[in-house]
Amino acid sequence: MPDKLFDIKIGKISFRNPIALAPMGGITDSNFANKNADDAGLVILGGYNLDAATQKAAAEMVARGRDEFQSEEPLKLIENEIKAVSEGPAVAVNVRSTTIEPLIEAAKVIKEAGAILELDAHCRQPEMTGIGAGQSLLSEISKLTEWIEQIKDTGVLLSVKVRANVSDDVELAQEIENAGADILHLDAMQEGAGADLKLIKDIRDSTGIFLICNNSVINADTAKDMFSRGADMVSVARGVMDNPGLIGQLVKWVSVHQEDTGWYNAPKHICRGQGDLRGLAFCCLPVKPCPVHHNIEKLGYSAQEFADKKMEFAKGTMLEYGDSTCFGSLAWCCKISKPCFLRDGVLETLGLSDSEYMRLKKEMADYIIGNAKKKHKQTI
Ligand SMILES: Cc1cc2nc3c(=O)[nH]c(=O)nc-3n(C[C@H](O)[C@H](O)[C@H](O)COP(=O)(O)O)c2cc1C
Ligand code: SF4
Ligand code: SF4
Repeated sequence: MPDKLFDIKIGKISFRNPIALAPMGGITDSNFANKNADDAGLVILGGYNLDAATQKAAAEMVARGRDEFQSEEPLKLIENEIKAVSEGPAVAVNVRSTTIEPLIEAAKVIKEAGAILELDAHCRQPEMTGIGAGQSLLSEISKLTEWIEQIKDTGVLLSVKVRANVSDDVELAQEIENAGADILHLDAMQEGAGADLKLIKDIRDSTGIFLICNNSVINADTAKDMFSRGADMVSVARGVMDNPGLIGQLVKWVSVHQEDTGWYNAPKHICRGQGDLRGLAFCCLPVKPCPVHHNIEKLGYSAQEFADKKMEFAKGTMLEYGDSTCFGSLAWCCKISKPCFLRDGVLETLGLSDSEYMRLKKEMADYIIGNAKKKHKQTI
């Protein structure tokens, strides 16, 4: 397998693969990460409680039997914990606070250590929400966005962890992106119903933010469901408790998948109703009534403009060829997972591998979306 299979980077931090260990208060420390997530692309330590109010809330949670990290010197603990993670994965630190000042102090320490700060707007334990920390930030969007702006002023890479289906998630994602956060870490939970895959697609189609998704990922199939809706990375929490080998298994699967297909988070086809807008790279020439029209409208393209945009990208690349295919060019051809002897014959003649074909389709998707007349934020 090549040394650098994935090209996943935010600012100065590179991720060697798109599998992350999610934070679990009282559980996900450097020791747990080194034991269970040695192969991960990212480990997210914490959550740690930064101020007196969240420390008191954590003590109350411990008193009723919940695991929590407790320290009166959280910054020192965080600094030591980042250092104690074995070399390999990037590191993020999930933190809670009721005021901005401790977050700014933590941001400086975390930035200096070369890690990512993750703001916990997710914890729904009543001790935390009752004091305005965790998930309660989702009902105070202007405070949340103000905090994001101030944390970003320190220059730290910032992830915001949120729980789905608590507020208007698409609007929330857009606000978080516009405020300057680098990563949205989405727990795509829908009460009693596993992960909300449609929501991942809707957020993918309405923001360009780096998207880490989780909830109920227990194997390659459940991870793939999230990748194919637009997750850039998938994280796991409870699954690792049940199966300590899970991260290693997911990394192995996604690495083989990337090597074979060239696009580990390739979207589904648009016509099945599950594909996000990146799936337009696999669409036909828009000559018949079908879901392509509704989707190109979201990006502000007419049918002719969409056709022109695809051919503009294809010009000078191998996608330009393919006289014998349905629409005369690989530009209009389907995903490699759809069997087609016409397309495969052209690929063979051109000497273009499946993964090279898919990499070109990924670049085409970026081109179509990047040059859209309507920007992401207006599309939903
Ligand atoms: C015991 C436990 C503790 C958790 N603590 C935190 C936390 O401190 N901060 C946070 O953002 N999420 C926390 N989470 C949420 C997880 O990171 C994750 O979003 C959630 O469990 C869904 O993913 P899963 O289905 O892979 O477990 C916790 C989850 C569990 C099970
Ligand atoms: S253009 Fe083709 S691939 Fe796209 S939605 Fe229509 S039928 Fe499906
Ligand atoms: S030639 Fe095959 S891959 Fe290309 S559009 Fe037609 S069915 Fe799809």
